[in-house]
Amino acid sequence: MNVTETTLQNVAIIGTGSYLPEKILTNSDLEKMIDTSDEWIRSRTGIEQRHIARDDEYTSDMAAVAAERAIESAGISAEDIDIIIVGTLSPDMQFPNTACFVQGKIGAKNAICFDIEAACSGFLFSLETAKQFLATGTYSTALVIGAEKLSSVTDWEDRGTCILFGDGAGAVIATNKTDQNKIIASHLGSDGKLTHLLNIPGGGSINPASLQTIEDRMHFMKMTGNEVFKHAVRCMCKAIKQVTAKCDMTIDDIDWVIPHQANMRIIQAIASRFDNSIDKFIINLDQVGNMSAASVPVAMDEAIKSGKIKKGDKILSVVFGGGFTWGAMIIEW
Ligand code: ACO
Repeated sequence: MNVTETTLQNVAIIGTGSYLPEKILTNSDLEKMIDTSDEWIRSRTGIEQRHIARDDEYTSDMAAVAAERAIESAGISAEDIDIIIVGTLSPDMQFPNTACFVQGKIGAKNAICFDIEAACSGFLFSLETAKQFLATGTYSTALVIGAEKLSSVTDWEDRGTCILFGDGAGAVIATNKTDQNKIIASHLGSDGKLTHLLNIPGGGSINPASLQTIEDRMHFMKMTGNEVFKHAVRCMCKAIKQVTAKCDMTIDDIDWVIPHQANMRIIQAIASRFDNSIDKFIINLDQVGNMSAASVPVAMDEAIKSGKIKKGDKILSVVFGGGFTWGAMIIEW
């Protein structure tokens, strides 16, 4: 049978897990480090605190704990996993990929491993990629992770960015063996004309590491915050319309929206554009900040484990990040 004759299989999520480092950095801790205030951070972002990994705790360590929790909740063993995809912008190393580090740590010896770099959209891009392998039947069990040690690429002297970010990891197990909790629609987008608005300029082929790139603090995240804000609202609203249209729905048919946890004001703007209650949006950014690719899988795991998301609920996740990249996915729980 060739690819065009292949019947695509449903892809479902059978387990979730997450991990947050123990150390908490509050807004008042930040007040002691930079010229800022708890009031400014809360009112501009909604963030109250974030978790920060230990110096000897790496992206793959956090990813591996989240993965083991997802594996346990799915009731499978690490050896059942055919493919590991990690969405991250803060990998352990430039290479090998972080998924390989995770594989070594959890003993998923039968898996193929690679990372996807789509900044804050990394988890949905990774899950959609896994979905393609599973839907065609190429593989049957995927471990998909969003994991970030953003504290390692944050400029702790830049008050415009360092107040936003936190560390953590979330993971799901996806399979083509069941119809429960299946992905019913997805939509991804990118705009490579806007790479300059959000990036880490140093350490790649444009600006290889040198004393000058270190002096210029080019190995840290740079962001034109207000521009990113406008594009984030516009692209996430568009993604919601496109993904719901694919299955003849509107956002009114959705029970829970899990947005990228960048900024409370972005989430409020999206809710009000659709005339929807903010109560429908799952929000944990007040406690964890923006964890980039880890934001959605951590929020998803917390909402499932707390019983907020119930059987039959329709969940819409929507993301936006550097690139720019954006996307949305609907899952019927
Ligand atoms: N504390 C106190 N004042 C501050 C701080 C701070 N931490 N940071 C900036 N300011 C000051 C600025 O210097 C400026 O002062 P001025 O008016 O005297 O020049 C003033 O506050 C306003 O600054 P803006 O940057 O215009 O503030 P804004 O309201 O845009 O909020 C923020 C900044 C929170 C970063 C916002 O733009 C934002 O959230 N943007 C979107 C971020 C996002 O969505 N990222 C998603 C992707 S992230 C990824 O992909 C990794």
